[in-house]
Amino acid sequence: MAEAATMDTIVSLCRRRGFVFPSSEIYGGLGSSYDYGHYGVLLKDNVKQRWLAAMVQERDDIVALDSSIILHPQVWEASGHVGGFTDPLVDCRFCKKRFRADHLDDSQCGQRPSKKPGETDDCDLTEARHFNLMFETRVGAMEETGVPVYLRPETAQGIFINFKNVAQIARRKPPFGIAQVGKSFRNEITPGNFIFRTLEFEQMEMEYFVPPGEAEEWYRYWVEERYAWHRRYGIRESHLRIRPHDPDELSHYSSGTSDIEYLFPIGWSELEGVANRGDFDLTAHTNASGTKLEWVEQDGSRYTPHVIEPALGVNRSMLAFLVDAYDEEVVADRDRTVLRLHPQLAPVKAAILPLIAKNDDMTTRARRLYEELRPLVSVEYDDGGQIGRRYRRQDEIGTPYALTIDDQTLEDDTITIRDRDSLAQERISIARAREHLLDRLSAPWVSPKTDS
Ligand code: GAP
Repeated sequence: MAEAATMDTIVSLCRRRGFVFPSSEIYGGLGSSYDYGHYGVLLKDNVKQRWLAAMVQERDDIVALDSSIILHPQVWEASGHVGGFTDPLVDCRFCKKRFRADHLDDSQCGQRPSKKPGETDDCDLTEARHFNLMFETRVGAMEETGVPVYLRPETAQGIFINFKNVAQIARRKPPFGIAQVGKSFRNEITPGNFIFRTLEFEQMEMEYFVPPGEAEEWYRYWVEERYAWHRRYGIRESHLRIRPHDPDELSHYSSGTSDIEYLFPIGWSELEGVANRGDFDLTAHTNASGTKLEWVEQDGSRYTPHVIEPALGVNRSMLAFLVDAYDEEVVADRDRTVLRLHPQLAPVKAAILPLIAKNDDMTTRARRLYEELRPLVSVEYDDGGQIGRRYRRQDEIGTPYALTIDDQTLEDDTITIRDRDSLAQERISIARAREHLLDRLSAPWVSPKTDS
């Protein structure tokens, strides 16, 4: 199997098949912003569902939350974001481009892309200045009197400020967690790489509150647990690694962080962060709000829980799954592009294909099967064009199974089920199609791609 997942091939597939479009395209586009088409929405939803299943549904110790995007501005003062959530930036007075001071080695000079900023005689870089990444807006009708607020740059703070509410009603004692999926916003100055880094994105964050003496043990537990989640949904071992942060890399709140990195086409980069946030956040909000965010034991003793936080971007996770799944091969002298996505992540689980669109008996049977399956899983009916072309189209969007209704169906009530990865075709009875498909979709799965 040949693999050729450059960022360009992924961008082009996403556009061609309607996963992701550049945002505001008819107005010339807006940098680092993307819109998600039909298959992109379905894939992104499946990523979120699988995360929520692993974090909430399959566990007894984590509950869900959906907090506001716009919070009281003091939240961001207390959290340290107003003072410290900044990127160091330098401007080039000659080419007028702006660069991250700490990423100059990975950046291209505005005049000569083969050089780094500062490398040509014309480059004239300013000193680094700190630029806050939070988007500011106002609440209230009047621009002059409205209160300045921020769009949240992470979902985590909405969890910390609800600690007391949740702890009181969730009937759980530490260790327990609160999980949240939702949009976050960052005024990223340097252009991203497709959906790797964007102005708005979705995060899946979980804050796990533990007795202080257990923090280190739970930190290690969550690094392993989250690594296993990416592997469970097909990311190849050779493309996934755990990288502990050096002490000088740690965020202001963290006493230990490990990145789970993926080998993206741009090189090894952070996919997910797992941080030991200690008691930084609960203490900061207790001090700033006057409300004690602490745990009170039955004997009256109290402590501020420490927090372990696995934080993953939905869009970045989707990009990793797309890159990892992308494959090209030659089958019967023809090129085939295929997304070998985990069946539970695939936007469409099965295509229902009548072999001959003009045969009413075939289309009637096919539509009946489609109506039977669609309340259960995402399926697509397609009777347009040659069967080979229809298979190829489904391969490109990662549909794991194709159910074909042909001449033999009319004789013996059997259909073929075609496997996207092995291309094996098996005949099964149409009456058992539903059971057969659901069994296959729930079976354990490993990527058939070679692990290199
Ligand atoms: N609450 C901790 C936190 O937000 P982070 O490392 O800044 O930590 C967590 O973000 C994850 O969110 C990252 O690992 C990445 O997957 C995703 N993420 C962060 N900034 C992003 C951006 N601008 N675009 C897309 N995803 C982003």
